[in-house]
Amino acid sequence: MAGMIPQSFIHELLARVDLVNVIEKRVNLKKAGRNYQARCPFHNEKTPSFSVNPDKQFYYCFGCGASGNAISFLMEYEGQEFVAAIEDLAASIGLPVPRDALAQTNQFDQNLFEVMQKVSQYYQQQLKQHPEGKTAVNYLKNRGLTGEIAKQYGIGYAPAGWQNLLTLSKEQEKFQKDLITTGMMIKNDNGKTYDRFRERIMFPIRNRRGQVIGFGGRIIDQGEPKYLNSPETPLFHKSNALYGIYEMRRQLRDINQIIVVEGYMDVVSLAQYGIYNCVATLGTATTEEHIQTLFRMCPTIVFCFDGDKAGRAAALKALNQALPLLKETREVRLMFLPEGEDPDTMVRNHGKDEFNHQVENSVTLFDYLIDYLTGQVDMNTFEGPAKLVHLAKPYLQAITDQILLMRFKQRLSELSSLPLQQLDKFVDEASPIHQKNTTEIQPPAAEQKPSARPDSANKHLFRRTIALLLQYPQSLPDGDYEWLENLEEAAANILNQLIKLITNNEKLTTAILVENWRDKEEEKGILKLANMDLHTEEQGVTKELTEIFSRLKKLQIIEQWDRLIEKSRLGYLSEEEKLQLKQLQVSMTNLSE
Ligand code: GTP
Ligand code: MN
Repeated sequence: MAGMIPQSFIHELLARVDLVNVIEKRVNLKKAGRNYQARCPFHNEKTPSFSVNPDKQFYYCFGCGASGNAISFLMEYEGQEFVAAIEDLAASIGLPVPRDALAQTNQFDQNLFEVMQKVSQYYQQQLKQHPEGKTAVNYLKNRGLTGEIAKQYGIGYAPAGWQNLLTLSKEQEKFQKDLITTGMMIKNDNGKTYDRFRERIMFPIRNRRGQVIGFGGRIIDQGEPKYLNSPETPLFHKSNALYGIYEMRRQLRDINQIIVVEGYMDVVSLAQYGIYNCVATLGTATTEEHIQTLFRMCPTIVFCFDGDKAGRAAALKALNQALPLLKETREVRLMFLPEGEDPDTMVRNHGKDEFNHQVENSVTLFDYLIDYLTGQVDMNTFEGPAKLVHLAKPYLQAITDQILLMRFKQRLSELSSLPLQQLDKFVDEASPIHQKNTTEIQPPAAEQKPSARPDSANKHLFRRTIALLLQYPQSLPDGDYEWLENLEEAAANILNQLIKLITNNEKLTTAILVENWRDKEEEKGILKLANMDLHTEEQGVTKELTEIFSRLKKLQIIEQWDRLIEKSRLGYLSEEEKLQLKQLQVSMTNLSE
């Protein structure tokens, strides 16, 4: 999707808009030196750690790590899709988005949202007006729902009939196509089309901006399937959608903690009892994306599960997703309801206070994990504590926060009576998984070649160079950089790309450079480098870069030399390579002088 609007237009756009302007319209900014500061709009905080840098056109939060350019800000803050954010930005400065580019990409976006809105209004109206709607209303009333809360959540009714939705527009052909794209109509193998949802109570699923992206439809009383959900569509992705997110944010300004429940009815019932800080996943296990989204809004997530076996299994899944994302400032808690209850019945049968009490009694993720692990083994036997360490290994490897990791190890060491050092050794034995979660730019293991210098020193050099160029693109020394292509490190590739971008474009800012890595594998690493504190002044950067490049050039010579020597040991050198080796020999001698 990102590739469809010409990158040149995106550069132009980012060069013209002013990030300070964009943010100022939405967040109260205060000038602080050259930068601007605010309380971070992406997490809950008392003292400002959100900073906007007008030179880089980049924002960064020291608290939650949110960071990016104007496009990222609109996507995060308004919950917009990439193309919609670009359209909004372009409109704000009167810049037309290239038309053909739009036609190819997501012109559908806005249009499909309108279709969904129309359908949602129709369902709401049917709940009140359609003769069958009465049964639906009665059902909801019997379950204790007030009209007020039903309205707040936009609950509606899809009446019987196979072709109801088509009546909502005069542009039949186009409308039918959109209804199929949004999953509201189904086209069967015979080419027949019909409404997906019939005789069901309809729960609209809205994104953070309040746009309807999908539906859940509940059968009245008994029947199969109990719930029918929208399929995956361009608007609706189960892996990142959360039911109730819009309604929650509309009700609450400051959110300290969010409770994640399983069902639509759970969210709605809790809200009716004044517990608004709830969202539900949509019949899927919690994903990393869900957790990321929630941590952007608050520091504590409480997962609420049924007390049965399935609930315990679901808890373990959520735990696995959450572990790598935890930091000292973030907390995940787990709560288990008594068997046979769900949040909806819990709050109705036992009241708000009892439910809140259960929330307060939730256990932290680490306490749960330790309980779970020790519960798997018999700690009174000779082998038990050893088994415990084995069982804990994958979890140890998933933790990324150093302090939490240290504490967890300490605890295991106490429980198993193994000295901490021994434990460390044991855990490090399987480092591949360990590396999986780091955001640093690393060459794939298979490509690593012996080199004259320790790898970590090279890596550091590359990282610093990339960071300097991202932050001070105007300071790139003039010169020829083709030799960089000979370097084997994956990071050299990025460096190359970066230098090409800088030499081929004017008016570059950090914001524009970073945009080139949106949705790419390296994005996280690039963002980190773009925000890294370099402890340097702009005036000194060109000089430092000149020195670094001369070091890298030497490194390149040494690398090539190493490679050819290695090859010659195996006896494989071609004539050309032999010649090359001779030339390198001369360069090497020059190096050491
Ligand atoms: P009620 O019986 O109305 O109280 O439902 P609930 O909200 O308590 O839902 P339940 O705990 O049975 O299921 C939790 C969630 O799983 C639902 O909200 C749906 O998202 C999903 N779900 C439940 N049943 C089905 C089903 O039959 N099909 C699909 N696709 N999803 C379901
Ligand atoms: Mn229920």
